[in-house]
Amino acid sequence: MTYQNDHDDIVARVKAETDIVRLIGEHVSLRKSGANFMGLCPFHGEKTPSFYVYPGNGSFYCFGCGKSGDAITFVQEYQHVDFPTALKDLATRCHIALPEKKLSAKEQRERDLREAMIRLNTKVADIFRKQLVSPAAAAARNYLDTRGVSETMRERFAIGCAPPGWDFLGERLSGQERALALQLGLLAQNEKGRIYDRFRDRIMFPIFDGKGRICGFGGRIIQGDGKPKYLNSPESLIFNKSHLLLGFFQHQQAIRKSRRAVLVEGNFDLVSLARHGCAEVVAPLGTALTREQLRLLKPMVKEIIVFFDGDAAGLKAALRATPLFLAEEMTGRVAILPDGHDPDSFVREQGQAATLNLLERAAPLPEFFLDQLIARHGLGLDGKRLILAELKQLIEAATSPLYRRLMVGHFAGRLGIDAQDIEASCGRVPTSRPHSPPQPPDIFPPDSQPEAEFIEEAPLQDTNAPTPATPVLSAEQRRVASFLLLHPWSFPALREVGVRDCLGVCVSDELFRALETLLVQRPNATAEDLLTMLPQGAERAMTVEILAQGGRHFLGDPQGELEDILLWLRERRLRETSLRLLAEIRKAREVGNQSLVREFLKQKQEVDREISDLA
Ligand code: UTP
Ligand code: MN
Repeated sequence: MTYQNDHDDIVARVKAETDIVRLIGEHVSLRKSGANFMGLCPFHGEKTPSFYVYPGNGSFYCFGCGKSGDAITFVQEYQHVDFPTALKDLATRCHIALPEKKLSAKEQRERDLREAMIRLNTKVADIFRKQLVSPAAAAARNYLDTRGVSETMRERFAIGCAPPGWDFLGERLSGQERALALQLGLLAQNEKGRIYDRFRDRIMFPIFDGKGRICGFGGRIIQGDGKPKYLNSPESLIFNKSHLLLGFFQHQQAIRKSRRAVLVEGNFDLVSLARHGCAEVVAPLGTALTREQLRLLKPMVKEIIVFFDGDAAGLKAALRATPLFLAEEMTGRVAILPDGHDPDSFVREQGQAATLNLLERAAPLPEFFLDQLIARHGLGLDGKRLILAELKQLIEAATSPLYRRLMVGHFAGRLGIDAQDIEASCGRVPTSRPHSPPQPPDIFPPDSQPEAEFIEEAPLQDTNAPTPATPVLSAEQRRVASFLLLHPWSFPALREVGVRDCLGVCVSDELFRALETLLVQRPNATAEDLLTMLPQGAERAMTVEILAQGGRHFLGDPQGELEDILLWLRERRLRETSLRLLAEIRKAREVGNQSLVREFLKQKQEVDREISDLA
């Protein structure tokens, strides 16, 4: 068998043996929709589900952004990895052994380069580590002592040091290694072509990926306040700091075990907490948190506790992280430090118990966000207006419709504002607009000191001319609701097949009452007639919106469309009945009532037959 055949065969086997619903379900909450599954698209951050998974042919498709593919594509896109990596991951999952893969010349070169880079970083980390224990490094050791970094921690994080002087590292590398070290930013070159050490007089922290490969370094200045305080490796083929977390490699076991992670800002915060027994801690590398970093932790944790400095910059960073958590549907809490403290100073001054206590009492991020806004703007008229303007971005980042509603309801209560007014200030829920949550910029420009101002001025647009909100509906519910609003005369027929049950969760009774009243007077009522009946609110807003679209979704003949919808509603109702009967059968079985089991089984078979007749 040729390699190609072998390879195709493996790809086919991996696809066949991967349960795509389970795979995607680990990252996206899916619910059944007919024979398929649907959920919120992980690729474009939508509010109403238009992402479908088809177990029949092992594929997925998003009607919102158009992303589609199979299990391998999903892993590639979701984890940002290449085809071979995704294939390998999936093959491992289903215990299929991969044949040695043959790489193209280019791939081979790139792989060799990566490996050489990792090897060099490993060698350099060793050099720095040896240096730290050498007689010449008394100052560095002294510094670590004053910062309370124990021997165990030095080893756990493979801490080393780069001495002052320009050629320490350069002299220890071969010509070939020096060329590579230039690419990795370990060495630098001035205009005259002179090559020199980039990291000098610094405590060196190697930065590992999840598999323990050293991808780069972060170095803290030892002497006084040399600039910059921290210097990181520049981005390279193997170093992408927005995808890495300091401490992740060392602490992933502890994180998996406790199902939570503690996120700190500073390298020494990480080390100090670890030393005081908190082994679930990780730190981003001097940049604002990214979605990729959250995704590293997502499969391992139930929650993440943000534990940032108790100063303006720390607060700002926590606020900026909030939308990312909502967009990833992850639970975030924030532990508040007294002003002037960072986790390092706090744990060293107050000890482990006080720190754990602070972590336990951490507040949910959205709540914290609101508290900060209230503290800043007050609850006066103007304050509320400013708060609403800032809450907008937070609410819009929430991808889960349910969570969004809960949040809006909660904020409404705290602010003494109508939930509908909050929804209104957020604009309508987009159905398919590709949307990614606000990506906060790096906290620090490269090699610079952190900025210190508080969150930016509130965005003020939209507060004067609020757009009323639309209730959050699935694609199918939306189709039904739109049709009903455009063609109120169809209500009796739709009511017959359970349209109220279908829409009731999202659409208020107000609408149905208005329809009943209207149709008594005018059996052929139009959407415009309906508008005259509806009070201000979400349903009215939705009607206006659908009218404004000119009903362009229904260019076909309304009778045909109605029949289609009736069919869908009928099938939906039958499926629900079938599920209910299944539950009844289980119950009857549990109590050992055989005749009841038979009766329900018969009923279920009939319902199932009806379903297959419909299709
Ligand atoms: P801090 O300035 O708060 O660091 O920046 P820190 O840990 O409290 O500093 P010391 O060592 O205790 O005085 C937080 C983190 O941001 C990154 C570093 O990873 C640092 O630990 N940073 C900071 C940079 O990458 N570059 C900088 O210039 C400053
Ligand atoms: Mn700090």
